Order: sequence, then C-alpha cells, then structure tokens
Amino acid sequence: MFSESTRCIVLVGAQWGDEGKGKITDVLAEQATIVARYQGGANAGHTVEVGDEQFILHLIPSGALYPTVRCLLGNGVVIDPWTLAEEVEMLEGRGIDIARRLGISWRAHLVLPYHKLLDGASESSRGVQIGTTRRGIGPAYRDKVARAGIRVCDLADLSAVRSTIDDRCAWANNRLSAFGSAERANATEIMDGLEAVAPGLLANAVEVGDEIRVELDSGGRALLEGAQGSLLDVDHGTYPFVTSSNTTAGGAAVGVGIGPTLIDDVLGVVKAYTTRVGNGPLPTELEGEAAEHLRVLGGEYGATTGRPRRPGWFDGVVVRHAAAVNGLTALAVTKLDVLDTFDELRLGVAYELEDAEQSGFPPRTEQLDSVRPVYETLPGWNASTTDCRKIEALPENARAYLSRIESVSGVPIRYVSVGSGRTQIVTL
Ligand code: GDP
Ligand code: IMO
Ligand code: MG
Repeated sequence: MFSESTRCIVLVGAQWGDEGKGKITDVLAEQATIVARYQGGANAGHTVEVGDEQFILHLIPSGALYPTVRCLLGNGVVIDPWTLAEEVEMLEGRGIDIARRLGISWRAHLVLPYHKLLDGASESSRGVQIGTTRRGIGPAYRDKVARAGIRVCDLADLSAVRSTIDDRCAWANNRLSAFGSAERANATEIMDGLEAVAPGLLANAVEVGDEIRVELDSGGRALLEGAQGSLLDVDHGTYPFVTSSNTTAGGAAVGVGIGPTLIDDVLGVVKAYTTRVGNGPLPTELEGEAAEHLRVLGGEYGATTGRPRRPGWFDGVVVRHAAAVNGLTALAVTKLDVLDTFDELRLGVAYELEDAEQSGFPPRTEQLDSVRPVYETLPGWNASTTDCRKIEALPENARAYLSRIESVSGVPIRYVSVGSGRTQIVTL
C-alpha cells in the first residue's frame, strides 16, 4: 500500500474495535519506518502473531516486531505509565528491543490511579453501564479537556506536580464517595510511583509531530495506527456507548501533531462479520446458538478484558458510515476464514425504521435499537481459505461475498486476511 506517492497512511477500525488492526498494522509495518498510535490508551488490545508467538499490545504500536521500525505514542494517546513499563519489559523479555525505538510525546496525558478508580466506580453507579474496559480512559480524557491533566512533560519537575496531584486526589475521592465506593486515591503513593517511572518516560520523550515530518521529508514512511473503532468514536460512534477519543482518521492528524495534508491514504479494517464488546446498539447482532457458534469459530473474546464479544452479520450501513466519516480509501477485510464453514451468509445492506428505509446512520440509541436491518443472503463456500494467498485462489462464493462487501461499502478492498498469522494475507 505504501508507494512513492503514499508515504503516510492512517489505519482505522471501521466497526466497533477488534477488527484485526494489530494484524494488518504488522503486515503494513514491514514497509514502514514509523508506526505511531494517535489516540486511546491501554483500553486497546492489538494482537500480532508471528510464527508460534502471539503478542497482545495495549499501548505500544503494532509495528514493534520489526527491529527497524520506530514506534511512537502521539500526544492524543493517554498513557498509563506503569502499564507501558510492563509492556516494554514484556517485549524486551521476549527478545524485542523496543526501549531504544520508543518515542513518547511530551504532550501526551497520563492515566493515573484515580482515573482507574473513577472509571470503575462511575460504571458501577450508572443505570445502564457502558461496559468500559475500566482502564481509566474516560476520566483521563475528562481531565485533559477540563485542563486538569498531567502530561509527560510535567514529569520534568515533579515537585510542581504535587499540588495538582493533591488537588485531583481530593476531587476524585469526593467523587468516589458520592459513587458509594470505599476506594480512595493516595497522593503520596502516586508521587512515589511517578518518581519511579518518570526517568524512563522522560528519556524517551520527543516531539512526535516533528519526528514524523522529518521522517516523511527524508523519504520515510509513517503508519498511524488507530485504536478502537469508528463506531466507538466520541463524535461519530454510537454515543454514549463509545470511547472518549476521536478514533477516526481526523483524530490521527491531531493525535500525532501533523497537518491532515500529510496523510495520503486511509485504510479501514473490517471483520468479514461484526463484533462488539461492551454495551450499546448492534443492529445486526446474532442471538443464542448462532451467536455462540460464530463467537467460538472466531475466538471472539476480548484481548484486553477477556469478555465475550457480541457477534453479528456484516453490517454495510455501519461500514458506509465509517467510510464517510474517515474518508476511507481502501478496506482490509479480516477473518474471512472464520466464515469458511457456513452454508449461507447474511449481509446487512440497509436499515428500515417504521417501514421506511433510512438514509445514513441514525444518531440516537433508541433509533439504532429499533432499526430492522435489510439483509441479503449469499451462499457460503464450505472450503478452507486459510492457505489462499492470491485472490484467484479464493473460492468463487468467497470472492462474490467480498465483492458485495465492496459494493455495499463503496470502498475498494486492498487486503483480505485469512488467518491470524503474518503471512495469512491476500493483497489485491
Ligand atoms: P484489534 O484490536 O483490531 O487489533 O483486534 P484484536 O487483536 O483485539 O482481535 C482480533 C483477533 O482476531 C486476534 O485474536 C487476531 O489474532 C485475530 N485475527 C486477526 N486477523 C485474523 C484472520 O484473518 N483470521 C482469524 N481467524 N483470526 C484473525
Ligand atoms: P481495540 O483497539 C473493542 C469499548 C469498551 C466499551 C467502550 C468504552 O482493541 O479495538 P473505554 O474503556 O474505552 O472507556 O470503553 O469502548 N472498547 C473497545 N472495544 N476494542 C477496543 O480496542 C476497545 N476499547 C474500548 O468495551 O464498550
Ligand atoms: Mg482489540
């Protein structure tokens, strides 16, 4: 996908997350010199499989497994310093020399223990839970927007941070008490913890936008790796059942500090069906045994929380919406192999609400809960696709299914993934 004229690509999830962004990032990273995360935090769980080895990455970009790729965390990412330290240690322990290749934006905000306590307590006190990952993401972004956050650059003068930490702990403890939680944040413990992690963070702190610009100017190639999915975007997703950042392509420019004019292509990653983890509308959701069947075939359990994912048929309305709000230029369809044993497949092409066909993607939860997807039924292929490496090698019915995904979404397919391994990819 990279070429002389395509040197900066944004990769986004075009459904509700877990589309296989880690796998596709790993495939593309072979040709990249920089891979950068631009939003989200350790709520992400990106799986990369190379040979017999599986890596689940929460904060470090999925380009990490190529020894020459520079891995950056942009200003838009919220960083739990202790999770990051553990991840670096895990990778180094497995022979991946990531520490010297990692750059962290001075401007990135930190996820601190009180954010996690607040995430858990506010979830428990809600009437209808969002089903967050409880990684402190919402409260950390809330502090960022409220201008009450702590950034990586602030760690250069820890004594000046103390008063903010005292203030935030007092505020958080008040909220925790109002939520009926017995847990409390402790400012001294947090300061001790920050003293331990600050040198490591500061040693890797950089101006991420500058690095990307310089790299692109000198002929390098940058991949900006989205986390979560477009339907979890705080503006364009199924609000309020969303995450707290802009997961879509516009967030990439803001989240690493480059202008949108530097972005050449936007690749949307979609599963050949749909899944969602956590609560909120899922119009093409499967129920009962059919759901369990697809969940087991696809191994649909969260990479971060282990929660069972909710499966559904491919939803063309969702992907059309994602195509529009991201300006998708290409699709990567993953997990085609999971559908290898189905006699018939259904594909959502439109929504009806009160007998009228909807144009566009409805904004309200009540509407999304009431829409009736209009399905097309396509024949399955009942053959293994896992060893296919060329489009011609795929069964005819699989090609017809992909072709329908392409026409319903309005975006050309560039990659088809037929297994979790690095080599299980068809490039069109
Ligand atoms: P991400 O969050 O978008 O990176 O996706 P996750 O890693 O959370 O979930 C995707 C899961 O599907 C992981 O377990 C991957 O190893 C797996 N996976 C990715 N692509 C394929 C594929 O084409 N076929 C199969 N069977 N599994 C895949
Ligand atoms: P990757 O990057 C799937 C979901 C949570 C919840 C909502 C808000 O692996 O695709 P949060 O903790 O972000 O405040 O939770 O978003 N969610 C994800 N679902 N994949 C993810 O990341 C997710 N990150 C958050 O389940 O519904
Ligand atoms: Mg995931």
